[in-house]
Amino acid sequence: MNMYDLIVKKKRGGALAKDEIDWMIREYTDGRIPDYQMSAMMMAVCFVGMTDEETKDLTLAMAHSGDVLDLSAIHGIKVDKHSTGGVGDKTSLVLAPLVASLGVPVAKMSGRGLGHTGGTIDKLESFTGFHTDLTPEQFIRNVNTIHIAIAGQTANLAPADKKLYALRDVTGTVDQMSLIASSIMSKKLASGADGIVLDVKTGDGAFMKSLEDARALAREMVSIGKLAGKDVSAVISDMDQPLGFAVGNALEVKEAVSTLKGHGPKDLEELVLVLGSLMTVKAGRAGSMEEAERLLKEALDTGRAFEVFKSFIKAQGGDPEEAEHPERLPSAAYQETVCAETDGFVRDIRTEEIGRICLFLGGGRETKESSIDLSVGLVLCRKKGDKVKKGDPLAVIHASDPEKLSEAKKRLLAAYEFTDRKPPVSPLIKEIIY
Ligand code: URA
Repeated sequence: MNMYDLIVKKKRGGALAKDEIDWMIREYTDGRIPDYQMSAMMMAVCFVGMTDEETKDLTLAMAHSGDVLDLSAIHGIKVDKHSTGGVGDKTSLVLAPLVASLGVPVAKMSGRGLGHTGGTIDKLESFTGFHTDLTPEQFIRNVNTIHIAIAGQTANLAPADKKLYALRDVTGTVDQMSLIASSIMSKKLASGADGIVLDVKTGDGAFMKSLEDARALAREMVSIGKLAGKDVSAVISDMDQPLGFAVGNALEVKEAVSTLKGHGPKDLEELVLVLGSLMTVKAGRAGSMEEAERLLKEALDTGRAFEVFKSFIKAQGGDPEEAEHPERLPSAAYQETVCAETDGFVRDIRTEEIGRICLFLGGGRETKESSIDLSVGLVLCRKKGDKVKKGDPLAVIHASDPEKLSEAKKRLLAAYEFTDRKPPVSPLIKEIIY
C-alpha cells in the first residue's frame, strides 16, 4: 500500500477500504506518512466525502491509534461531553464541574482551538501551571476523588486525532462531516466513558451552517457511539451568535467563573442545564430531566459547583486562587470599546467572523507551530434582538497590538447588522437526538 495511491483513489471519488484506512492511520501516527500527503488526503475528503462505512472505520482506527482507557476502576457510570465547536463556547468549563458536583464521574477528553473556534484545553491553560497531559492513573485517581478530570490527546490517547486535528486546523480541512465525526468520536471512545452527550452546533459560527447538516452530523456520531456500545445523545444548539458575551481564551474563563458563581449569561446557563441534565440522567443520578435540572441549579446556587471547579484546577496543576481572583488571569494591554454608528435592533452578528477576529488578534493558531495569546479577544455588549442607539457600546476589544486593535474595530463594526424592527431570535436548543 502507498499513500499516493490512496490520495488519488479518494480524489477520484473512491471509497477507502477498512484495511487501507487502518494502514493510513497507523503509518501517519507513527510518522511514516508526512503531513503534506495527509493534508492532500484531508482536502480530497473535503471535496469527495466519505461513506458511513468509511467514517466508522476511520473513527475506530483513530480511537485505537493509542490506548483505550479502561475506566473500570472508577465507580459508577462515567459521562463525557463534546461540542462540535463554536464561538464563545465555554460550556465545558461550567458543565464539567457542575455535573461532577453532584457526584457524577466526569471523565472528559478535550481538544484545542480548531479553525475559527476555541478549544477547552487552550482556555484552561489560562490558569498558571494547568495541564491536561494526565497519565491514565492520574486521570482515574482524579475522577475517583473529585469526580472530574479533563485530559488532552497525548502520545497514548487518540494520538492520530492529536496529529490530524493540528493539521486540519491550519489547512482549511475542518468543516467536513466525516472528519468532524471521526475526530470527536475517536476521542470519546478512547477516553472510555459510558455515557456521552454531544453538543452539535448549527449556524454561521458553527462548522455545520445548516440545521440539516447539523442533524446529519449528530445522527452519524450517535450511531457510531451506539455501535461501540455507548449511551449517546446529541443536542443541536444555536451558533448563529456567540454563546454568552466573551470570545477569547482567558476572557471566556472569566465568564465561566462568573457563571459558576451564579452570574452567567442566560444562554450559557440554559445550554449547561440541558446538557448537564442529560449527563446526570445518563449517570443514573436523577430519574428525569426535571429532577436533574433542579439538582444542577441547586449546585450552582450553593456555590458547590464553583468549589469543585477550584479543586479540579488545583488537581491538574493550576492555581485555584486565579479562579477566586479572575483579574489575575492573563489580561490584554489594550482594551477599547467599539460603539454603534447607527440606531436600530441587532439583526445579525456574523459569528464566524467574530471567531476570526479573535484569531487575528492572536487567540488562535495560524500554523501548527504558532503559540497563542491567551489574553486577547472580544466581549460583546449587544446580542441579536437588542435595541441599540448610535454611540452605544457594541463590544470591547482586548488586544496586545495597537495595529491589530484598529483593524479588529473595523471588522467588528462590519460584523454587526441592524434592522428597524425587533427581529425574531431563534431558540437556543433546536433538537435532541437520542
Ligand atoms: N471538535 C473536535 O474534537 N474535532 C472536530 O473535528 C471538530 C470539533
